[in-house]
Amino acid sequence: MSLLSPKWGLGRSLLTLGPILLVAPLIALKQHYTLPEPQTAPINTRTGLPQISEARILGFAKHLSEEIGYRTVGTYEHALADAWMVEQAEEAKRQCERVVRESGRRLECEVWRQQGSGTHRFDMMSKRLYKSYQNLTNIIVRLSDGTDEGKTHALLLNSHLDSTLPSPGAADDAVSVGIMLDCIRVLVDTPDWSPAHAVIFLFNHAEESLQDGSHLFSTQHPIAHTVRAVINLEAAGTTGRELLFQATSEEMVEAYSHVPRPFGTIFANDIFNSGVLLSDTDFRQFEEYLDVPGLDIAIVGNSYLYHMRKDLVENIEAGVAQNMGENTLALIKHLTAPGSAIPTLSSNTNAARMHMVYFGLLSHFFMYRFATAKALYGAMLAGALVLTRAQWTGQARGVLAVLGGIGGALMVPNIVALVTVHGLGRGMSWFAGGHFAAIGLYGPAALLGGLASQLLVPATDEKTVYAATLLLQSSAALGIQLLNVGSAAMFFISGLPIFIALLVNDLLLTTRKGEVSLWVYALGQFLPLMTGTLIMVPTVEVFVPLTGRMGAVPADHIVGTLVAVLGAQALPLVIPFAHRFGARALRRVVLVLGALTVVNMGIYARREVFDAMHQKRLFVLHLENATTHEHHLHIANADGAPGFDALVRDITTEFAGLQAAAVPVVMDDYNSDWDSLYPFSAFLSPYKIALPLDPAYVSPWTAPETSFSLKAVNEVTDLVAGTRSFTLQVRHPGLIWTVIAFDAHVLAWNLDDNPPTEYARHHVKEASFYKADMWTMDLVVKLPPGADGEIAFNFIGLQEGAMWPAKKAVKAQGGPAMILFEALDGWLDEKTGGTVDALLLGCVAGTAVV
Ligand SMILES: *[C@@H]1O[C@H](CO)[C@@H](O)[C@H](O)[C@H]1NC(C)=O
Ligand SMILES: [Zn+2]
Repeated sequence: MSLLSPKWGLGRSLLTLGPILLVAPLIALKQHYTLPEPQTAPINTRTGLPQISEARILGFAKHLSEEIGYRTVGTYEHALADAWMVEQAEEAKRQCERVVRESGRRLECEVWRQQGSGTHRFDMMSKRLYKSYQNLTNIIVRLSDGTDEGKTHALLLNSHLDSTLPSPGAADDAVSVGIMLDCIRVLVDTPDWSPAHAVIFLFNHAEESLQDGSHLFSTQHPIAHTVRAVINLEAAGTTGRELLFQATSEEMVEAYSHVPRPFGTIFANDIFNSGVLLSDTDFRQFEEYLDVPGLDIAIVGNSYLYHMRKDLVENIEAGVAQNMGENTLALIKHLTAPGSAIPTLSSNTNAARMHMVYFGLLSHFFMYRFATAKALYGAMLAGALVLTRAQWTGQARGVLAVLGGIGGALMVPNIVALVTVHGLGRGMSWFAGGHFAAIGLYGPAALLGGLASQLLVPATDEKTVYAATLLLQSSAALGIQLLNVGSAAMFFISGLPIFIALLVNDLLLTTRKGEVSLWVYALGQFLPLMTGTLIMVPTVEVFVPLTGRMGAVPADHIVGTLVAVLGAQALPLVIPFAHRFGARALRRVVLVLGALTVVNMGIYARREVFDAMHQKRLFVLHLENATTHEHHLHIANADGAPGFDALVRDITTEFAGLQAAAVPVVMDDYNSDWDSLYPFSAFLSPYKIALPLDPAYVSPWTAPETSFSLKAVNEVTDLVAGTRSFTLQVRHPGLIWTVIAFDAHVLAWNLDDNPPTEYARHHVKEASFYKADMWTMDLVVKLPPGADGEIAFNFIGLQEGAMWPAKKAVKAQGGPAMILFEALDGWLDEKTGGTVDALLLGCVAGTAVV
């Protein structure tokens, strides 16, 4: 083909470029979705050496999540999991001792069952919050070479055994528990393996109650001070490669680069640290109380099932556990080997000192320091300036075209969102279809906006716009990196091929000044499209399900904007390309895309938001007020999809009678009905329905010996100092996860040394081992002038025996709450065609003046 004029027309150009450019996202998708072959055998038949066995890992996960079941902290099942874990650890230790007896290897396995109580402050979502826990447990296994030196510096592996309120927790986090157990087996059975530095496996038994288990280990375990680095294994999904989403030291990233299939980017790290994902892991406790760096790794694909009933082994994609297991094993081997960085990882290494860019691309894992990044991006900008000097004069127009393109790409998806939500009343129509559905709706819209905008900006020639694209990408890379944000790499990765393509164009391809060869688009767009896909797909994959639990946010605008921004970043050369064929051709393309977008909106408007595997989350409380003796049903959702009010009306008529009314209630710090979920409750938009009372009902929660009670002991009132000090005793037989909320000016308490120096509202949440049914709190409060200092406490707790479906098997224990839940759950299933997952909790609450 002639590389010069006459230029090919639009159709011929697209037909040539299309197939080439289609390969880029395909390569990216293949990399993103490929998982290793799951192994069943514990020993590799070819090498005769032990290997990670997915079958064994999933066997553990299945036992925990199905045979034992919902392991909510404080329940009977939670105690069963504790006993099971002790047995597994002891068995591992016996195997270890057998191996050592037979081989004389330098290997020692030790086991602890830690049990203890404590308190910690746990602020989240900008709320001040305190935790108090009684007799919670952790199971700990340490592998070392048996020497004191070998135990001086240790690597910590953490996963959690417990599951959250409405979930059997197979992926979250039983798979990680299984992986740690299988890693122990492989290491112990590997001939000659002996760790130069110890590895501590923490099977932590209270994460979902807000990280009490990791707090207990970090603050009280005798070997906690030997920990130099941590690897935390988590899950918020059930598919795909596990993601490294937090890394807080360069040495640990270096270690990670040796795993067989790394999947971690500085980009994920920056998103997580921005807090928009609203999630938090045990990593926080290790950072805060052990002051060590580490890696936070989680399964994140398909997070629709996260904290849902369907977080079951059958829904975990084949290969997920194999992949995570092999990566984890490689990390342990690397970090416990002689010469590892473990002993050099001193305390106070933290995120603020992590100055490293990292990302995986095809089979290579790139890593470089911020200083290198600045030099590199600076050099690219300088090179770009030199290369584009012929286009400097018209640059104002070029820049205007590119910025106009970005503006248009952002605007049209938001118009689409506005029309679907407010015009058609069909918001979140992409939800059940997942990230590809979201990209399918907003991608063409963004492209339409980007191209249509070019009809409005002043006419400019192609090469000037190309130069503007390069200059803006390079400036963004350098500018953002100068702010020490490692995600600037995104602009470097897309800028560099654009730069190289221009260089090739000017030196080799064209002879006429100002000409852009068609090949430049193949060359310059391939890598941005590939890396853009590698960033866009997982990001949208995480955000789409997140909109189902973020509360009544403008989900369509969030997702539309996200697709537009990441799409623009993946297709930067669309804008110069738009100026290649003249306004007439561009108008035709815009027309076609416009029609496509309108048709698309029509198709999406017919889609159902939720389906059986992409369910709506419903939060239902049956609340017995022990003070007023009323019973209420509280219902809330955590998404902005249409149809919630109608569903609540139907539930009300069905379960509270035709006369009953669902009253919308305000969610704030004084809404104590939802304190069990505080501060997540801020996402909920609840209704309250009064339930008719069965005259034959005798409450078990008001009898003196079984009641939920608050009382003050060791009371001292000092009128001269104006203070009252006492120990608040909270008794809660049969109830778990108790919460108290009260207003007072606290001068001192045992929760921390730093209560607010004013009259304020406080929330204290408890979580304890099964049957540990009392906790206390020491308080010194300031007496208000002329008052006796009595305090009104709002209290609430969950009935250990009234959580549906966790306690289905023993439903008779649950009283009226469970009777209602069984009926309501069956009715909901039928009414909504299985598209709703309801968290159904029996609560007892009241007010006590102490
Ligand atoms: C915690 O365990 C100890 C020892 O088993 C027991 O004496 C104590 O009563 C328990 N605490 C609670 C609150 O149940
Ligand atoms: Zn978890």
